Amino acid sequence: MIEARARGFGTIAGEYATVRVPMRTAALEWLVASPRQSAVEIGAGTGLFTRLLATVADSVLAVEPDERMRAEFLVRDPRVRVVDGTAEDIPAADDSVDAVYSVDSWHWFDPDRTFAEIARVLRPGGSLAVAWNMHDRSVRWEAEFFAILDDLPAGFRRPGWFTTEGRAAFTPQERHVVRWNEPMNHERLLSMLSSYSPVLAMGQAERTEYLRRQRDYLARCAPEASDGTVDTAFTTVCWRTRYLP
Ligand SMILES: C[S@@+](CC[C@H](N)C(=O)[O-])C[C@H]1O[C@@H](n2cnc3c(N)ncnc32)[C@H](O)[C@@H]1O
Repeated sequence: MIEARARGFGTIAGEYATVRVPMRTAALEWLVASPRQSAVEIGAGTGLFTRLLATVADSVLAVEPDERMRAEFLVRDPRVRVVDGTAEDIPAADDSVDAVYSVDSWHWFDPDRTFAEIARVLRPGGSLAVAWNMHDRSVRWEAEFFAILDDLPAGFRRPGWFTTEGRAAFTPQERHVVRWNEPMNHERLLSMLSSYSPVLAMGQAERTEYLRRQRDYLARCAPEASDGTVDTAFTTVCWRTRYLP
């Protein structure tokens, strides 16, 4: 079941690229410890993070298994190289990469195979950085509106959580959190909610009914201000480690 959900984003590749929000520069700067490097992003999707990475790295290879996500990626930026591949099977040579990145995707990967594959492609001393853009659950309406994201089926890994425990070749993980706000109207919030895997996994009737209830919830608990938006709080949870075999 986890594999089917992990590959569900392609069904909404176009919407995904417009409703998800890229992280702020402060998070990018922490994740990219040393710019001017050869970088690989695994699970690159439509390139939301890759386009930021390409502004600081010398060379970037985006790896994405879903061809619909890759097609949307190329519409948005044909200059960045995006190739078919997975975190568990990275199309890069041994010892050839300075840094590997994963944004909003690490929880979909098989950790044992992914760590082994990253150790294969990274040069000794290279880095691995992992991040998630999350809704700030300390804001009550956001915690309630996005509650479905916390209700993980058995066997699913938790977004936001990363560890190198038991991975002798990787240094203990460092964590950093960047908080930021963005005004969003109700339609945008509903579109964003619709882009998450638990909602994508619903049947049509269930999804329609669920989104109707969530629309009502916003009207009651997160009314739009006079400019038509609601101040929406995000946290980018960032992790990094180095490969020192
Ligand atoms: C939530 S999207 C994140 C996309 C992008 N990193 C971003 O910041 O918007 C997760 C992506 O991981 C991809 N994915 C799922 N399983 C994967 C795997 N085993 N290896 C690499 N990518 C995978 C999906 O196809 C999807 O494009």
